[in-house]
Amino acid sequence: MTEQGNRKSSNHWKSSLGFVAAAAGSAVGLGNIWKFPYIAGQNGGGTFVLFYLLCIAIFGIPIMIAEVMLGRTTQSSPLRAFQRLSTRNYGWQFVGLLGIFAGILILSYYSIVAGWGLHYLFLSLVGGFPQDNNPQAYTDLFDSLVQSARLNIWWHSVFMAITTCVVLRGIRGGIERFANWGMLALFILLGMLAIYASTLSGFVPAVKFLFAFSENFTWTSALEALGHAFFSLSLGIGVMLTYGSYLQRHDDVVGTSIAIAIADTVVAIGACLVLFPIAFSVGLEPSAGPGLIFINIPLALLQLPFGRIGLLVFFLLLLLAALTSAISLLEMAVAFLIDSLSWSRSVAGFTMAIFIYLLGIPSAISGGTGFFGAGLKQSLGMTWFEGADYLASNWLLPLGGIGISLFVGWQLNSHQRLNEFSNNSRIGSLAWLYSSWLLIIRWLSPIVITIIMLHNLGVF
Ligand code: PFF
Repeated sequence: MTEQGNRKSSNHWKSSLGFVAAAAGSAVGLGNIWKFPYIAGQNGGGTFVLFYLLCIAIFGIPIMIAEVMLGRTTQSSPLRAFQRLSTRNYGWQFVGLLGIFAGILILSYYSIVAGWGLHYLFLSLVGGFPQDNNPQAYTDLFDSLVQSARLNIWWHSVFMAITTCVVLRGIRGGIERFANWGMLALFILLGMLAIYASTLSGFVPAVKFLFAFSENFTWTSALEALGHAFFSLSLGIGVMLTYGSYLQRHDDVVGTSIAIAIADTVVAIGACLVLFPIAFSVGLEPSAGPGLIFINIPLALLQLPFGRIGLLVFFLLLLLAALTSAISLLEMAVAFLIDSLSWSRSVAGFTMAIFIYLLGIPSAISGGTGFFGAGLKQSLGMTWFEGADYLASNWLLPLGGIGISLFVGWQLNSHQRLNEFSNNSRIGSLAWLYSSWLLIIRWLSPIVITIIMLHNLGVF
């Protein structure tokens, strides 16, 4: 077996397309299909969408380049990557550790939402939805799922089991293969749904809503858009770093990062262009919040022609998207164990999966009246599940993003950085791109992200 850096060739992607599929699979997830449509809906549409797109272009892509670059150049998992390039500087290593903690936390509650998707996929298969068009019946159906510890724990177990099986099969045979097929299927399913949605009466109002200027845009919306850009691109916690570390040294970092961001954005906008027309067609609002896809969409679709097939396709799409993202989160945490403790993939995989599974239990029971649900909500204003999501996407991811940005911008040897950016070629034509990128990761992104976070802490 050939060695590259400290990795065997089986620890690299088979092709750079495999990397793009896996990384785009990580990026495209519940964030795009469940969360983006409802936060865009709640924040009034157009302006929020525009600000989000700017966040992706100005901060998302440059930080993704930095993160993938850090992985490729060190050929190591997150903590190791920081250790290698900053011996004895524990501050930087803390950034790596924070990311790993954030990833573990995210997967623990991500799996619960994915479990709701699994339950709804099951209901679509067996025809388990209410027979009449009574909105209350759909709300009750969703509420009873959220409140049921038994159902949440069951689907959480199923989802974590599937995710673990893929990760245990390794990079090429598990993650890359699953991502290649999964992403292909995902785009086909999304295309089918988009064609269907474009025939509905709600399509034109939906497009207007999505692209028209809106007034509800506030500082909080700005933080939400920024945090979501990080969440959606899987940035700031070392997932892209881990996937980047499986790249060969000659693979292109800049081009692949742009491709991943484009794929992610297409799916987020595509999901809105599927969901909003469906809701508008039966007179429902897209601002329904987290229940949008679990209450309004089944209610609306089942009143429309071919609705039952549409529902099945939609929840299949949701499951695929959730799985490829969950796989990346688990892989990052597993790679950390393998690299730091020299454990085998199976021991590291099982141990981490069980740990995350147990950490997910408080989220699974957050919908109930016990301590993790109503109890915490009363004392802290958020259930465990809401708190974990808020902490991870609004704070830990942007903080990790600043850390990675500063590290690559200031700590990485300038020669190495330039070579990594240009892959030792074509830098002549990319020179302006390189200087803009450096300006962003050194100054712009840390400053802007800090200002938005301080503002939201009430500092000014
Ligand atoms: N990007 C995924 C989504 O949009 O659903 C979620 C995610 C995956 C966040 C991996 C962070 C991460 F590291």
